[in-house]
Amino acid sequence: MEKGDRKRPIGVFDSGVGGLTVLRALRSQLPAEDFVYLGDTARVPYGTKSAKSVTRYALQAARVLVDRGIKQLVVACNTASAVALEALEAAYRPLPVVGVVEPGAEACCRLSVTGHVAVIGTEGTIRGGAYQRAIRRFRPDARIVARPCSLFVALAEEGWVRGELVEAIVARYLEPILGGGSPTRPDCLVLGCTHFPPLSDAIRSVAGAGVTLVDSAETTAVAVKNGLEIAGLLNAGGEGKTHFLATDGIARFCRVGEIFLGEPISPETVELVDL
Ligand code: DGL
Repeated sequence: MEKGDRKRPIGVFDSGVGGLTVLRALRSQLPAEDFVYLGDTARVPYGTKSAKSVTRYALQAARVLVDRGIKQLVVACNTASAVALEALEAAYRPLPVVGVVEPGAEACCRLSVTGHVAVIGTEGTIRGGAYQRAIRRFRPDARIVARPCSLFVALAEEGWVRGELVEAIVARYLEPILGGGSPTRPDCLVLGCTHFPPLSDAIRSVAGAGVTLVDSAETTAVAVKNGLEIAGLLNAGGEGKTHFLATDGIARFCRVGEIFLGEPISPETVELVDL
C-alpha cells in the first residue's frame, strides 16, 4: 500500500450488530478515519455454526469490504476471529487483518495478577480454543477456565442487560467457573463475545470486585491504530464517516444496533447487500 491509501476506509465486519461495540471503540481511537461496517444479519448467529461455515461466511463478508477498497480489515466477531483469521489473512494478503482474540488475550495476561483467568464466549469460540492458545502464548503458565454462555447473546439483543432475572442467568453460567471463594478463583474474565460488554454491569455484580473484566474492543482499537501508524496509513485530520452494510433487516439492524453502538443509527445510512 502507498501513502495515498491513507484516505481509504477501514472495513469492520461481524455476524450482526454486536461488532458495533468494536466500531465504537475504533471510532473513538481513530476519529478521522472512514469506516465501512458489515453486519451479516442474514446469517447471525455464527457462534453456533461449524468452523467451516463460519470461515466461508467470513471470507464472503470480507470480499464485499475488500471490493470497497478498504486499507485495513477488522474482524470484530470473536467467533470469526477465533476460527477464520488465518484463512482471511491468506485470502486477502497483503491487506492487514486484525481480529479481537489476540488483543483480548494480551490485555487479560497484562491485567491478571495471579495468572488464573477465565474466558467466556460463544460455543464456537470456546470449542475452537483460540483464546486459550493466545493466552498461553503471552503467559505459558496461565491457568485457564472457559465456558460458552450462549444465552447472553439473546439477552443482549433483547436489551435485557440488567436486573434480577439477568443476574440469575449470569450467575448460573459463571458460578461453575468463578468458583466461590477458592484460592484458585480467576482474577480476570475475558468477555470473548461482541454481545457481552452490554451485560458488564450484571457480570460484574455476579463476579464481584476481585475479578477484572476484559473487553477486547478497546485493545483491538489500540492495536489497529498502532498498526496503521507503523504502516504510515493513519488518516489524520477531518471527521471520519461510517457507512453501514447489512445482509438482512435494516430496521432491526438500526433498532438493536443502537444498544451496541450507543447512539442511534439512521436507516438511510444502512445499505442492504448480498454476499
Ligand atoms: N459476534 C459473535 C461473537 O462475537 C456473537 C454473535 C454470534 O453468535 O454470531 O462471537
